[in-house]
Amino acid sequence: MNNIAFLGAGNMASAIVDGLLRTGVIAAENLTCLSASGQSAAQLSARTGIRHAVTPNELLEHGDVLVVAFKPKHLTAATAAIYAPLTAGKLVISLLAGKTLAQLHAVFPQARNIVRTMPNTPARIGAGVTAWCSRQPLTTDDRAMVCSLLEALGTQLEVAETQMDAITAISGSGPGFFFEYAAAVREAAVTAGLSADVAHTLTVQTLLGSARLLAQTGTDPETLRDQVTSPNGTTHAGLGVLARADFRALVRKTVLAARDRAGEISRES
Ligand SMILES: NC(=O)c1ccc[n+]([C@@H]2O[C@H](COP(=O)([O-])OP(=O)(O)OC[C@H]3O[C@@H](n4cnc5c(N)ncnc54)[C@H](OP(=O)(O)O)[C@@H]3O)[C@@H](O)[C@H]2O)c1
Repeated sequence: MNNIAFLGAGNMASAIVDGLLRTGVIAAENLTCLSASGQSAAQLSARTGIRHAVTPNELLEHGDVLVVAFKPKHLTAATAAIYAPLTAGKLVISLLAGKTLAQLHAVFPQARNIVRTMPNTPARIGAGVTAWCSRQPLTTDDRAMVCSLLEALGTQLEVAETQMDAITAISGSGPGFFFEYAAAVREAAVTAGLSADVAHTLTVQTLLGSARLLAQTGTDPETLRDQVTSPNGTTHAGLGVLARADFRALVRKTVLAARDRAGEISRES
């Protein structure tokens, strides 16, 4: 695998570095990072053994791939002035939420190709899902590089850029919605008479077990739901409350609000 440079050394850069080193697809000496204050890059370097650059030139001296892993607001004209020439002929992979391929191309106009990704927070434990799209069709080698890099975070899939706002709502914001549902279940468990510890364990393990059952059986969630539901039983009673409150309409509105906001953010930036 070609040398990889990380512009930014925070949570997402650390998750990718950890995943790449765990899977052994690249050695630590082939990875370099740089951060604004130098502090997070120094910490990542000390923890993992990857190289720590002090200047942009040093960062990209050996790197054939630049992973842009700072916050979207850091993609400024000043960044463009420094990195446009330095990324000539290189592959740029952006983790920046909401930054379109056209916006990225304006900053890295001479890159050989640009990949826009939408990772999510379970990437921190290698259980993320990352959707991505590229400005131009990828060469075989670049595709292999992108897939290996994103598989360090969990599952990856290629999509059309037009789907990115909807994807942001489902997998990007999605953990936030599932966590809120988990928090509501845990709170209700305490109201139902359980201790906080028991409520927490049951909530986490039920969510985890249900997700694994869904993934491993490949069965529709409706079928698995029906397998828990006896006529006039306890699940039936609870599901009746959800149906009367039009739970699905609420979820639909939640997802559409997140999708629409993702579109607004892309247009604002
Ligand atoms: N976290 C997530 O779950 C998630 C999900 C989807 C997408 N993303 C995307 O991933 C990106 C990174 O997020 P994060 O959570 O990893 O951020 P983070 O932990 O805050 O890290 C940001 C890093 O960028 C560095 N930085 C800031 N300005 C810079 C500059 N001008 N040049 C070089 N480095 C600079 C910071 O350096 P200092 O520490 O030295 O200031 C820090 O190392 C974001 O664009 C976000 O949209 C994140």
